[in-house]
This record gives sequence, structure tokens and C-alpha cells, in this order.
Amino acid sequence: MPLVSTRQLLDEAAKGGYGVGAFNVNDMEQIQAIMEAAKETNSPVIIQASRGARQFAQDNYLYHLMLAAAELYPQIPLAMHLDHGNSFETCESAIKLGFTSVMMDGSLKPDGKTPATFEENVEVTRKVVDYAHERGISVEGEIGVLGGIEDGHGAGGSGLDHVTDPDQAVEFAELTGVDSLAIAIGTSHGAYKFTKKPDGSVLKMDLLLAIHKRLPNTHLVMHGSSSVPKDLQDIINQYGGKLKETWGVPVEEIQLGIKNGVRKINVDTDNRLAITGAIRKVLWESPEKFDPRDYMKPARAAMQKVVAQRMVQFGQAGHAGDYTAISIPDMAKGYADGTLITKPLVAAK
Ligand code: G3H
Ligand code: 13P
Ligand code: ZN
Repeated sequence: MPLVSTRQLLDEAAKGGYGVGAFNVNDMEQIQAIMEAAKETNSPVIIQASRGARQFAQDNYLYHLMLAAAELYPQIPLAMHLDHGNSFETCESAIKLGFTSVMMDGSLKPDGKTPATFEENVEVTRKVVDYAHERGISVEGEIGVLGGIEDGHGAGGSGLDHVTDPDQAVEFAELTGVDSLAIAIGTSHGAYKFTKKPDGSVLKMDLLLAIHKRLPNTHLVMHGSSSVPKDLQDIINQYGGKLKETWGVPVEEIQLGIKNGVRKINVDTDNRLAITGAIRKVLWESPEKFDPRDYMKPARAAMQKVVAQRMVQFGQAGHAGDYTAISIPDMAKGYADGTLITKPLVAAK
């Protein structure tokens, strides 16, 4: 299957009542792990690259690896998504390269750190939407700001500092015409999200439900959604690592989100933990080894296991064969003639 639009994947997920994991990648082995997990579980999937990933891998390598994945797994609907675009120019360059969807994270200023005003966010997101839709590319916006910092990106602080206001979410969706909307409900990027198993005081699922009630047809996106499982933390620490005790987002809370409009779930940290644990184990147990394949193979297998597990838990497993790809030019026609609705349905308060 050619690379497909994230919008199509999310529309199909809404019809089927499931969520789609969006997994971050930086290199070939991570792409291989995700595609093998998708094949194993027969899942549609979103692979996403951050600005940091684009810099690390270089755009051309990333793009051609993604093309290889689409070619090698023709049965898997696969979208290539830009994660946390910080400006119009970043989104434009991703679209020119061949990404099939972009996130314009206008919740922060272009420095990727300072919270932006509502007006600034609307202005830049609207500009990206106009440019992207004309080319058949779908757009994710963000309203509210996540906690934590990853690779220099993020406002820092707690996930509760700038949670999403439901009225603003409605206004933002109406003014921008985004295809999907990332909301801030107390989660943070990275491993250190919560200091104990989160309850409603720190993980605001009630807020998510309130937003979904107002925007019943808008595809919601959960960022910072790694579960940071204890067994993955333990492997790292058992083999010389120094992770502090921490909690992520419990899978059952994500599943509650999926029942309430969440269609895209971003996971990066869990895979980082799985990879690092597997590499540490090999190098600790066999210090004489130096062939990278000796540790990259178990690392890739450990990531595949986590991704396959999430695909089953999010409900996307089994749905790869449900539909055929809409071409990107046909998506552009759909946006132009109004078949692809971007005006959100808004319910009364
Ligand atoms: O947004 C956070 C993702 O985990 C990507 O992280 O910017 O370090 O590549 P990164
Ligand atoms: P985690 O750090 O929880 O994996 O979140 C990843 C993410 O939201 C990428 O955009
Ligand atoms: Zn994110």
C-alpha cells in the first residue's frame, strides 16, 4: 500500500471504535520493529518522526526507509507523520519531503519551549491547515500544553500547568479546521510523568470526557501516553541503569479515552525503555560482544513486543485489511469539495 493519510486511518478507527498507536522512530530498526508488530497483529499504523528524529536520521534516510516499509508490507495501511512541528516552515518541509500528515504544535512558540497565546496558535495552525489540505495532507493541532521536556522540546513543568480548556478546544477546532486535536490532560513526555499510580487529581480523564462531549466527532490525540511499565524499568536498573521510580499512563485509562473520542495515541518512551533494557542486558551479560547485531536484534525484538502489545490494547489489531488506501491527490479533492469534513460538530454545553 502507498503511504496513506493519517486522516483516513483515524476516520476508519472512529468507524471501528478503536485507537491507533503512533510510534516515534529515529532509525531503521525502530521502523522494522513497528512494521513487524503491525504484520504480527494485522494493524494499521502511524509512524512518526520528531524534529529531533529528522535531524538525527536525516530526512532522505527517513523518507526512503518509510517507502521501503510501505513496499515491504503492502497489506498494512501506514501513515508517515511529523510529530510536534514547531513552525509553518517545519511542516512545509515535511510535506514537501512526503510526510502524509503533520502536527503543527502551535501550543508552544517556535522555540518549542514558551507557551504561545491562543491567537498565535490559531494563526499558525490555520496557515498549516490551508497549505496541507490543498495538498491532501492532514493536520493535527494542539490546544493546552503538555508537561516535561524531550530533546529540548516542551514547556517543562508539570502536566497540570496548562491543561486544555474545553471551550477553547471547541473554538480552536472551529477556527483552524484541524483533522485531529491533541489535548493536555495532565500527561508529560518522557519517563517521569507521575510519582505514583495516577488518579483523577493528576490524570484528568474527566476533562477528556468533557472535551469529547463538546466535540463528539473530532479525533482526539493523547500525547505522553507511554505506560512506563515497571518490568521495563526493572530490566534497565537490573543491568546497571539508574532510573528513578516512576509511573506512566495506565493502559486502562487510554482505553477509557478510546471509548471517548481518542483515536491517536502517541508512544515513544516505552519503546526507548524496551530497547535500552535489551541492549544493557546483552552488554552486561556478555561484555566480550562487540557486533552491534548481537544487541540490536534483541533490542528490535523487545520494541516489537511492546508495540504489538499496544496494538492489541488500543484495538487496532485485526483492522489492517478493512479498507484500501485513498490516494493523497484524492484526499486533496476531498478537502476541496467538502467531502472530507473539517468543520467540527459542536454539542451544546
Ligand atoms: O514528543 C516527544 C517524542 O517522544 C519525541 O521525542 O523530540 O526526543 O525525538 P524527541
Ligand atoms: P511518551 O514520552 O509518553 O512516549 O510520549 C510520546 C509523545 O507524546 C510523542 O509525541
Ligand atoms: Zn507529543
